[in-house]
Amino acid sequence: MPKLAIEPSGQACGATVTGVDLSQPLAASVVDQIRAAWLEHHVLAFPDQKLSSDEFERFAQLFGRFGDDPFFKPISGREHIAAVRREASDTSPIFAEVFHSDWSFQAQPPAATLLYSIDIPPVGGDTLFANQHLALERMPSELRSRLEGKMAIHSAAVGYAPDGLYGDPKNHGSMDIVVSEEAYARQSHPLFRAHPETGRRAIFSGAFSYVIGFEGMTDDEAKPLLLELLAWQSREEFLYRHQWANDMLVMWDNRSVLHRATGGYEGHRRELHRITINSG
Ligand SMILES: [Fe+2]
Repeated sequence: MPKLAIEPSGQACGATVTGVDLSQPLAASVVDQIRAAWLEHHVLAFPDQKLSSDEFERFAQLFGRFGDDPFFKPISGREHIAAVRREASDTSPIFAEVFHSDWSFQAQPPAATLLYSIDIPPVGGDTLFANQHLALERMPSELRSRLEGKMAIHSAAVGYAPDGLYGDPKNHGSMDIVVSEEAYARQSHPLFRAHPETGRRAIFSGAFSYVIGFEGMTDDEAKPLLLELLAWQSREEFLYRHQWANDMLVMWDNRSVLHRATGGYEGHRRELHRITINSG
């Protein structure tokens, strides 16, 4: 087995990890190295991995316990794996095209998300990541002073409520989405918060995805501030553009980065399998 090698992307976050076969049981020292690299680079890509669903689940569980996925049906025969799927014939909107942190409206949102590529189109379909440590560190003091100390209100309603984007089944495409009144629930988190493992502060989650307002502000007051926040937190200088290949596993830290899908592969099929992991 070649030695574990970690190659940074050269962009605002992200690294590629080679020299490890994730289908095999891993020594504790290797898991520790992967965890340290994940905390440092926030997004890790492992190319050329042939994983069964059992092996995918086993690797994911090295980083915590399975998360609760409220608005997706899992793939058949599995409780904890969901499919991000678009058939070549689909004409629905690209799923998850707004920067977000997965399920940030939960009381304890997932620390990690793992995506494993099954079927990757020849063009398009990159995933964009935005480093929210850098976005906070470089935020102009004038904007920062208006956001400092704010409690952000998170909700899944824009996507998953009956009157949300996916309330119309035409927008589901080939995704197994579960629309529910539960999406109207609200959960507050500090907008700026220390990463629970590294202590480094970051902006948590994305404006207009799950962050819908701020405590103590009306919607009208919050909207221009959310627009400014989104424009800042998704600036080019904070981005890593991930290009997929088949048999690639990517894991990212939802506490450090935002992510969003991109299109550009109309007429091609695309499928990835997803697991969310809570810390501890
Ligand atoms: Fe996501």
